[in-house]
Amino acid sequence: MPELEEVLPALAAEMADRDDRGEVASYIPQLSIIDPKRFGIAVALTDGRVITAGDADESFSIQSISKIFTLTLALGKVGDGLWRRVGREPSGNPFNSIVQLEREHGIPRNPFINAGAIVVTDVLLADHQPREAIGEILRFVQFLADDESIVVDRDVAASEKATGFRNFALANYMRAFGNLHHAPELALGVYFHHCAIAMNCRQLALSGRFLAHGGRLSQDGHSVVSNERARRILALMLTCGHYDGSGDFAFRVGIPGKSGVGGGILGIVPGIASIAVWSPGLNENGNSKLGSIALEKLARTMNWSIFAP
Ligand code: DON
Repeated sequence: MPELEEVLPALAAEMADRDDRGEVASYIPQLSIIDPKRFGIAVALTDGRVITAGDADESFSIQSISKIFTLTLALGKVGDGLWRRVGREPSGNPFNSIVQLEREHGIPRNPFINAGAIVVTDVLLADHQPREAIGEILRFVQFLADDESIVVDRDVAASEKATGFRNFALANYMRAFGNLHHAPELALGVYFHHCAIAMNCRQLALSGRFLAHGGRLSQDGHSVVSNERARRILALMLTCGHYDGSGDFAFRVGIPGKSGVGGGILGIVPGIASIAVWSPGLNENGNSKLGSIALEKLARTMNWSIFAP
């Protein structure tokens, strides 16, 4: 197997030379000011090693990648009852589609599109003040990454709150169908804050390690979720983690992944590695352009695929 200590720096150098970097998200003003030239990658192996290259120690907004952590927490709270309020099918539509939600009577297709993630956040708000729910999510991520320095970027949260009209529309629409149990501004307050968690590639790769370890923090470490639940979260990442680009990501990369409009992607090679990549420019589906290309190249070089024998 090629050595990651050589593969990752070569990949970062190749990505630094590319001009076709996609467009930085502009609908959240605070994200539009990020330098599109950034590229970082970190691989946390199940043998305990972490190998990084490029801007792997620079923090970025994890955005929708946070939906993996909120889904994990919500399943811990209400178990399979969650599936009465959210579906498990790929959306085939943009992550903020209103038309689809109307057609499906306020039940979001899956927990990773915005509407689904807002319902998941609503579950986490039960018996909590918004501040407590945000604290619970942040502490969970800190615990997974074993890093208490991880914080919420309050400027990003405020920027999204000021401009999140579509998300308010989705939340109000679900409230009309009885599928949101708290006031839209409360559920969205928590949602905007967990999307605004800032992490670097190293921290993000570490926070995803439990999914590479079948639900455990390390080979024989603390069990975060059961093996079965870890597998199911990975199945949802594969089928829904890149919205209407999920099929293409599975085809090209061949591992479960979850993207965010901050330009991050968390990819999991079960039993082998948790990979975080970051490049702020997005493709037409709102997924990191160079991040997807880099993961495709890395998976091919390392022969990593969930479909490999
Ligand atoms: O709600 C939003 O639009 C953002 N906070 C998150 C969207 C996102 O990351 C979609 N990812 N590709």
